[in-house]
Amino acid sequence: MSIGIIGGTGLTKIKGLKITAEKQLKTPFGKPSAPYLIGTLKNKEVIFLARHGNPHCFPPHKVNYRANIWGFKKLGIKHIISIAAVGGITPNMKPTHLVIPDQIIDYSYSREQTFFAKNLAEVTHIDFSYPYNQKLRMQLIKIATKNNLPISSLATYGCTQGPRLETAAEILRMETDGCDIVGMTGMPEAALARELNLAYATIAVVANWGAGKSTGEITMKEIHQHLEKGMDNALQLLTKFIKAF
Ligand code: HPA
Repeated sequence: MSIGIIGGTGLTKIKGLKITAEKQLKTPFGKPSAPYLIGTLKNKEVIFLARHGNPHCFPPHKVNYRANIWGFKKLGIKHIISIAAVGGITPNMKPTHLVIPDQIIDYSYSREQTFFAKNLAEVTHIDFSYPYNQKLRMQLIKIATKNNLPISSLATYGCTQGPRLETAAEILRMETDGCDIVGMTGMPEAALARELNLAYATIAVVANWGAGKSTGEITMKEIHQHLEKGMDNALQLLTKFIKAF
């Protein structure tokens, strides 16, 4: 059984992935962000997709989330691990830290967010009480703990629209709402995976403190520096997870 991997900012390629085929798919929802890279990692079959394209060209609000998730389903994938860069809000969520979120609050808007929009035989409401797959989360947490990787195993991911970063007041509001981390791509990706009955979990990598949580400007340079370090740990976790899958 292959596992699907969605790489985010700072992860457009996976070290150690032996690519055997590349598939550019067309879907009823348009083109996915990039060709799906089919191959093996630690002798396990994986299919990798760069969420923002390769080179990185789709900002979070322009990613074709429906095409990306549909493509995985069409390729026979049943499990997806997504990697996502985030900002840290609550005190433990410091740059380079890894987080396996368990909840989502969606602040994004104007995105194509469902497969259930046209030609419906009946109205469908998916259960989304627990947006991430619990089994996948537990496996990730177990492996991270065993390997002494710095992770938080419970966190609420707030998804903003972007592409701008938030204001300090928006981050305070999100904190009051219960968000621990902030990103721009978690939704509708997680909900679309649930709609197609795909098990989905996220490894989030903290790239910066959220707006107002540190002194000074948030720069892309800082984000990339932290991501480089954090992604090393994320990749270690992913590789060990896949080996054990
Ligand atoms: N806000 C939203 N998305 C992000 C951030 C942030 O501070 N850092 C990385 N992705």
